[in-house]
Amino acid sequence: MIYNEVDDLQTILKRRMEAGSTVVPLGHLGQADLKTIRAKVKDAVYNQMDKSLLNNLHRPEVKEQVEKYIKDKVLEEGRDLPRIMWAKLNAVADQIIDEVTGFGPIQDLLDDPEISEVMVNGPDKVYVERNGLIELTDVKFNDDKHVMNIIDRIVSRIGRKCDEATPMVDARLPDGSRVNAIIPPLSLIGPVLTIRKFSKVPLTPFDMIFRFRSYSCRELFLFYQLVQTKFNILISGGTGSGKTTTLNILSSFIPENERIVTVEDSAELQLQQPHVIPLEARPPNVEGRGQVTIRDLVKNALRMRPDRIVVGEVRGAETLDMLQAMNTGHDGSLTTAHANSARDALIRLETMILFAVELPVRAIRQMICAGIDVIIHQQRLRDGRRRVTEVSLVEGMNGNDIVLAEILRYDHKADRLVVTENRFKLEEVFREKGVELPAWIWGELPCKR
Ligand SMILES: Nc1ncnc2c1ncn2[C@@H]1O[C@H](COP(=O)(O)OP(=O)(O)OP(=O)(O)O)[C@@H](O)[C@H]1O
Ligand SMILES: [Mg+2]
Repeated sequence: MIYNEVDDLQTILKRRMEAGSTVVPLGHLGQADLKTIRAKVKDAVYNQMDKSLLNNLHRPEVKEQVEKYIKDKVLEEGRDLPRIMWAKLNAVADQIIDEVTGFGPIQDLLDDPEISEVMVNGPDKVYVERNGLIELTDVKFNDDKHVMNIIDRIVSRIGRKCDEATPMVDARLPDGSRVNAIIPPLSLIGPVLTIRKFSKVPLTPFDMIFRFRSYSCRELFLFYQLVQTKFNILISGGTGSGKTTTLNILSSFIPENERIVTVEDSAELQLQQPHVIPLEARPPNVEGRGQVTIRDLVKNALRMRPDRIVVGEVRGAETLDMLQAMNTGHDGSLTTAHANSARDALIRLETMILFAVELPVRAIRQMICAGIDVIIHQQRLRDGRRRVTEVSLVEGMNGNDIVLAEILRYDHKADRLVVTENRFKLEEVFREKGVELPAWIWGELPCKR
């Protein structure tokens, strides 16, 4: 049948039925042709087009050039199709453009402001985190290769590769979102991609108190006083419990006239003070060279005359340098560590220091004790909420052990932090630093929920 002069699809179908032929549903009409065109154009893009174009898609002029190439190619491949199919060619071109220049099937999820995390577990299972809870989406990739394509596109931008030789890669999207990719043979379910979306508008203390009920005004005021009075603070918590977010809020309380050096694996902090020097670690390049670790940066930061050092997260040997910084005139430094409680955080610090030096346990504990003043612990609760559940003072040593004094403790039933009698100890430390805490800080506040 020749479609060229036909104006109405229904008429074609009617005539076909009358002629006894099988009617192909509207959606399927010409699908095979479109599929072939899609495959051909994609093949041309990935195998014939100049590779450097694909690697520079973040540049608007390159993106435009690639888009034009795809559109032209689709029209060229589809020139013999009946006219009735032409409108569909546009959609095919858009799909290919989305896949080639954007992030394919997950682009919509990345654009959705309600989604904070996107997790691709192989081609068929894409999960997201929305309002603190994980849900399965109906988004699917064609196959493992399709997921690999997207991974390649993400990591090639920063000059890295994800293949059998380097099956685990950390990267970042152009908007700053943090990406991790791990592929077979390490992953047994196909390529896995985890994206922590970077919130362009950082969460504020107001969000913490009134929107998410992560803590109250009283606690916020206490955090403010701790930062202003130059306590060295460790924020501890599990994965995704909101450590970095709290670190960002606490860092915002550092006075504007102080020189702040921040050190991170992947720049997530968004400090607004004028005198901030953000440093970012660098993984090794494709040849395995050029790595700059957090530890290197912390050491370097010490030579930059900082008033305060803010380290995104301590995970290894850098803990030693961070504690040394805290012990040598950089009071008011802040960091986070992965741990299940404030007490557990101390044990983790101890282990991490052992990555750097062999010292007797007591010496390590003394170093921790002299370095860290306060631990703020937070958790992701079962309902998806993030909450500060403990504030403890590192009091001193008792024999070989570090004494931790809990100042605020989470009461699950009342869903609030309660003050313990140890508050006097904290008041005393503030007093030694010349600050008198107002008595109301321990009582109820008018703006408490
Ligand atoms: N108090 C909060 N209430 C609700 N959402 C929060 C809160 N704190 C952080 N978030 C959101 O939770 C996600 C994880 O936060 P964040 O990166 O601060 O956690 P993290 O503990 O540093 O995670 P990781 O262990 O992966 O470094 C982000 O999407 C962030 O916007
Ligand atoms: Mg973090």
